[in-house]
Amino acid sequence: MLNANTFPKSFSVSFENIARIILIFLLNLKPLLFIVMIEKNASLKSEDIQVQDAGVTAVDNIVMENVLRPHSLKEYIGQDGIKNNLAVFLPAARKRKEAMEHILLHGPPGLGKTTLAFILAREMGAQIRTTSGPAIERPGDLAALLTNLQEKDILFIDEIHRLRPAVEEILYSAMEDFCLDLIVGKGPSARSMRIGLPSFTLIGATTKLSSLSSPLRDRFGNVLKLEFYTEEDIKEILMRSAGILKTEINDEAAERLSQSSRRTPRIANRLLRRVRDFASVHEHSLIDKNVVEETLELLGVDELGLDATDRKLLNLIADQFRGGPVGLSTLSAAANEEQATIEDIYEPFLLQLGFLHRSPRGRLITDKVYNHLGINKI
Ligand code: ADE
Repeated sequence: MLNANTFPKSFSVSFENIARIILIFLLNLKPLLFIVMIEKNASLKSEDIQVQDAGVTAVDNIVMENVLRPHSLKEYIGQDGIKNNLAVFLPAARKRKEAMEHILLHGPPGLGKTTLAFILAREMGAQIRTTSGPAIERPGDLAALLTNLQEKDILFIDEIHRLRPAVEEILYSAMEDFCLDLIVGKGPSARSMRIGLPSFTLIGATTKLSSLSSPLRDRFGNVLKLEFYTEEDIKEILMRSAGILKTEINDEAAERLSQSSRRTPRIANRLLRRVRDFASVHEHSLIDKNVVEETLELLGVDELGLDATDRKLLNLIADQFRGGPVGLSTLSAAANEEQATIEDIYEPFLLQLGFLHRSPRGRLITDKVYNHLGINKI
């Protein structure tokens, strides 16, 4: 419950007045502080953007990712299980003229959780408001967000596993009963009150399903897992992206690039942009396999998509820890990489390749690693 004691304490007025003041405070708090973006069926198109060749910054990356995002389920390549589920779920919600049930999207980064949330909003003709777990600092922040929603809006919370417990508690009644439970006052004079909310859909996204508390997880009507893509799907995504970027790439080059894309669209599109830069600087009008291979070599990305950090981690486990098991904190200190980076960015694909095992005693590498790196077991 949202405790009104989190608001200014010096009111000695009546219960109704306090409640009124809180409500006015909440409703007038413009969600500028935490709403990153409000989008109403809008999306960036390639014509809207000046495509840049060089000097790529983090902002450019985000802009380019938006340009390349599919805008409908029809355009969306891969994740057939999810698309089949949504093909039933979406028309049913539309037919009932109701907000969709709450949806939880989980899976490694870069597989399209945000893209799917925006597609769902578009397909439902709904407005989407986006924020993230760590951006919602206090219960009042979430209360203001919720009271600013309109009927059938979608609230997208990225990294939902990083919500603070006090904030998460507010979500329970909001998700279940579409209301905010408030406690006004302190001690024996404390009273509870409920504020109704419009029926909305919460879409939560997480890379760590296991870090979500079960009361929160259980309140999602639909839990969808995004899987790594097949190389064929990644190749198709690359061909589509090359078309949007007005870049010519042949079949063999797209296939080679897909092999090094870690089965992840975000990485595939990022590599495609680097290959396009390389082709532009070296005045190649067509991206062929040679252009792809020369760019990948320059980037230190191998034929499986492993980069210098992946190789550093694997070599460390092989050499210093005799193949493992080694605990995450020890590995993190030895590699000088943050634990969260190792866990969330590097490990999912190494596990998928069958290069790594997680055991209760730590991380272990498999024989495949020795073959791939061309090293001997100690
Ligand atoms: N770009 C990024 N992800 C995509 C997907 N799943 N389908 C089509 N284009 C994409």
